[in-house]
Amino acid sequence: MNLAMANQITKGANDVCTLRRTHTCFPNARTAFKAWMYALGISSLDTVLLPAYVGTSPKEGSGVFDPIVEIGARFQFYRMTTDLRIDIEDYRRVLANARPRLVVLIHYFGYPDPQYLDAVQTAHEQNVLVLEDEAHALYSDWIGGICGRVGDATIFSLHKMLPFPSGGLLSLNNQSSTSLFEKLQQSPFKCDLSYSPLDYDLFAIADARRRNALALLELIQPLRGKIDPLHTSLPIGVVPQTWPVIVTGRSRDELYFELNKRGFGVVSLYHTLIDEIRPEQYPDAHWLSRRILNLPVHQDIPTGALEAMVEELAQLV
Ligand SMILES: Cc1ncc(COP(=O)(O)O)c(C=O)c1O
Repeated sequence: MNLAMANQITKGANDVCTLRRTHTCFPNARTAFKAWMYALGISSLDTVLLPAYVGTSPKEGSGVFDPIVEIGARFQFYRMTTDLRIDIEDYRRVLANARPRLVVLIHYFGYPDPQYLDAVQTAHEQNVLVLEDEAHALYSDWIGGICGRVGDATIFSLHKMLPFPSGGLLSLNNQSSTSLFEKLQQSPFKCDLSYSPLDYDLFAIADARRRNALALLELIQPLRGKIDPLHTSLPIGVVPQTWPVIVTGRSRDELYFELNKRGFGVVSLYHTLIDEIRPEQYPDAHWLSRRILNLPVHQDIPTGALEAMVEELAQLV
């Protein structure tokens, strides 16, 4: 293109490559992750680096760890702090020693780590691929625009954020890798989605979730010391999946059962860590796992229900 042409402006956007971001559909996020590893040719010779905060349950297994086991890859963990931040010193150390093929960064509950860009850059400097696990961060990415674009690939879990029975997406961020994209299109795990996120007002959903999180932040103020927020602010662009609190005023498990019994749908992510994350080696992760309770912020919450839930909480602690 000569200089004169480069300075021209077309009447409309016709370049199919500009800011293209394609998504390939899978039954769920874990299958999208597995398909990406297959397409990359990850094998038992490769190591995958993971945060040392990964849960499992008898019903669902482990959405992050199971694909790695199924692929047969090796794995190692980097430490997370009690407030669920990357222990960046440990991350750098393990990255240098383990020489992994890829590293998984999880934007837990829709909050990207404050050091996430640094973590991606450090991995890329060592030619390590980065997966952004956005099973909880679909709206922080699509609406907030604060994550999902600097890693090599991103996975989404549609059924976690929308009223769908299933659905996962994989987005390759490095569009120069045409052969990888083509391999993914041949993936036996790929599927068509019967439900479209475009049938929902994603902006309004994100707005509702943010408003609910802000309301909770305020409502639990009087309970501080017994129930403390894992995040004390809601940065621009963050759209929470759930709103995590740390329970110290009573047994977390008792609170969990009592609240659910009274009709308030709370979860604990993650109440049980995978066996490979040993308490002796990762005490901070286990400390958090025993105390975390995730309060709902989703778009279906009726007016007044959060107040009622926090009143129950206050009585219970
Ligand atoms: C952080 C994280 N990543 C990935 C997954 C897997 O999501 P899906 O159920 O869509 O496979 C889960 C849930 O299991 C998760 O919590």
